[in-house]
Amino acid sequence: MTDSPITVSQQGGICRITVNRPDKLNALNAATLDALHLAFGEAAEDPGTRVVVLTGAGAKAFVAGADIAEMAGLRPTDARDFSLRGQRLMRRIETLPKPVIAMVNGFALGGGLELAMACHLRIAADTAKLGQPEINLGLIPGFGGTQRLLRLAGRAATLELCLLGAPVDAARALQLGIVNRVVAAADLETETMKLAEQLAVAAPLALRGTLDAVNVGGECGIEEGLQYETAQFGLMFSTDDMREGTRAFLERRKPAFSGS
Ligand code: COA
Repeated sequence: MTDSPITVSQQGGICRITVNRPDKLNALNAATLDALHLAFGEAAEDPGTRVVVLTGAGAKAFVAGADIAEMAGLRPTDARDFSLRGQRLMRRIETLPKPVIAMVNGFALGGGLELAMACHLRIAADTAKLGQPEINLGLIPGFGGTQRLLRLAGRAATLELCLLGAPVDAARALQLGIVNRVVAAADLETETMKLAEQLAVAAPLALRGTLDAVNVGGECGIEEGLQYETAQFGLMFSTDDMREGTRAFLERRKPAFSGS
């Protein structure tokens, strides 16, 4: 479909989802949020997808935020629904049973940074700019930004970004722990694909167990978190992949994980 706000492609276990509104710097309107929600649901279900790469179309932006033109006319109850729609998408991504990499190819502002932060790994071009500029619109983040940034980078960085509204460059974002890696813009695609290819051949159930344990651990006390980890660890011993991984190590060969 040519007028879809996103594109989805699949190759070698890697599902690539691209927000495709480059003329609006890939701003997230309601239709885009819904299309992304659907696409991530399909990626979760599709046994051929081992890893998802999320990016924005064009050379300028990952996503420059929620769509300000669409938001401007919202009544409070509609705004609440819009926020819930965004939060529902972010939660779906964060709790996806497969790793999601945000390939941050330019501006990641407002809802764009919130979207990137819901992903499991973030790799940014050295030209990227990241921030929560909602304060400049008389707003606050509404897709989980105050909460995820707090958990990712701590209180000082969260208050700096959200109160002052100024974006940071990729190098500063790396320093603050907001992104995992920064690479030259020209290498972003190659470096992201290297990461994706590594994850595409990793043991899917162990990836899932790791994501689950980290998600659960982020929301509970240490005792509960440790218990959850122990249960997941035990569960791994029921998988063919665990047998294959340990056997391959002992036989000095590369493992071939099947996801069973
Ligand atoms: N919502 C809706 N449209 C947006 C948008 C957003 N968040 N961000 C950019 N756009 C649109 C612009 O309105 C413009 O559309 P037009 O050509 O129809 O007028 C187009 O994208 C290009 O943006 P423009 O502002 O002309 O590019 P720029 O290079 O001068 O500036 C930014 C780039 C990112 C600094 C600037 O677009 C910006 O500040 N965007 C809003 C960021 C923001 O506040 N996000 C949080 C929203 S809650």
